[in-house]
Amino acid sequence: MNRLVIVSNRVPAAAAATPAGGLAVALDGLMEKRGGLWFGWSGAIGNADLPATVRREGGVAYATIDLSAEEHERYYNNFANGVLWPLLHTMPELMRFDRRDARVYRAVNARMAARLEPLLRPDDLIWVHDFHLLALPAALRARGVGNPIGFFLHVPFASADVLAAAPETGALVRDMLAADLLGFQTENDLANFAAAAELFAQVTRLPGNALLVGRRRVRLGVFPVEIEPHGFAEMAERMARAPEAVRLRHSIEGQHLIMGVERLDPTKGLLQRLAGLHRLFERHPAWLGRTTMLQIAAVSRKDVASYRSLREALERAAGGLNAELAEPDWQPLRLVCRGVDRGLVAGYLRAARVGLVTPLRDGMNLVAKEFVAAQDPADPGVLVLSRFAGAAQQLDGALLVNPHDADAMADALERALAMPLAERLARWQAMWAAIAPRSPLGWGRAFVAALLRATSINAVTQRPFRTALVAEAAASAAPSIGSDLVRVEARRPPLVAAEHRPLN
Ligand code: G6P
Repeated sequence: MNRLVIVSNRVPAAAAATPAGGLAVALDGLMEKRGGLWFGWSGAIGNADLPATVRREGGVAYATIDLSAEEHERYYNNFANGVLWPLLHTMPELMRFDRRDARVYRAVNARMAARLEPLLRPDDLIWVHDFHLLALPAALRARGVGNPIGFFLHVPFASADVLAAAPETGALVRDMLAADLLGFQTENDLANFAAAAELFAQVTRLPGNALLVGRRRVRLGVFPVEIEPHGFAEMAERMARAPEAVRLRHSIEGQHLIMGVERLDPTKGLLQRLAGLHRLFERHPAWLGRTTMLQIAAVSRKDVASYRSLREALERAAGGLNAELAEPDWQPLRLVCRGVDRGLVAGYLRAARVGLVTPLRDGMNLVAKEFVAAQDPADPGVLVLSRFAGAAQQLDGALLVNPHDADAMADALERALAMPLAERLARWQAMWAAIAPRSPLGWGRAFVAALLRATSINAVTQRPFRTALVAEAAASAAPSIGSDLVRVEARRPPLVAAEHRPLN
């Protein structure tokens, strides 16, 4: 079985630190089985000229490099978080482009490729993650790396005319196309990418979610990220008995709790959410004194100007709302601007009658799924969800809202707060049925299986390990179709034929 190499900007901290989230656990799980290497930034500012530092835990090696102070500023703060993040989330007004930042972003991607290359084995499968590393597939190919490369984008992919706001994005789309498989959260993201590839890279679209790039075929697929629903449900039930969760419930006795939790990020629609809450009390004053919102907003990326000004604006808006509507013994909003332990969040979510998850744009939004998993199956709360979150494609039992429309949000909140048990049960059961059979491990396995299939029919794959890949791809694909593909490829390496099978 081929070793799996994960490359991402952040690499999980050493064991014994805070428990990792579901994705890190899933990727670790995949690597434990296959043997694995996880490569990325150490999280530290240091000497950028040194080779990677490697630590081992079980069957997995973690290799990290430091960034210089300038790289941290230009690659991470300015270009990844200050240009790509807002553009990919269709918020071009927040973008601040400077071509020096773009150059350093490229240089860091190239250096990651250079430091990773000596650690690679000929039969490794490489899986690159997220918007920090869009140039990495091409940077690896430029160093002669012929291994299969998969790329998964955790955030949305905006339409080409939005992306065109930054001069560098066309080249980055071309760099991504050096991978064999490109994975997205939703069909919409995939369609946007395919259109951008046609525009910026003159590719030809093939049937079945594939692109012809020169003589190479690049597969596209949709792989919605999942949570560990049963583990999260169990944690929520247990943590609802934790003293902190008990205190929260006592503090709102006789009221309904509305809850939001996320990083303090401009894409999350926090100001719009407070406007929706304000409008709830204006349009439906019967809820004054009978409902309270708890918003946890973990401070994030505080070196980026738009994040700092959002915090100030949020504090002002929250203060204004409370000053206007609070009573001596009641306040409409509790705003907590720091990270809260994951287990406690699970316990708090179980106490909430309404989960208010209203990003302006979001790749998936795992909090929406976690809210569903955290609920008491006999007395579940209601999810009010932005239609612009990837999760809205799967959670049709939620009340879907446009986060820009404060009146619609207010009406959805009022409907959720007043919803009878029978309707709450029916909606929750539909959502639980959508997430319960899935897991991050299943997500990871589906991606790796698709990468094996994509590679077994791709010309860039190197000869020495083709046989092993082809055998594993055949085993992971549907028996008849899979073995047909393998036989065709064995006779005819550089494939230009039309594809027959969608990935997802
Ligand atoms: C999003 C991105 C991740 C990123 C995370 C936290 O979920 O998709 O790649 O790691 O935010 O952001 P940070 O900048 O702290 O890594």
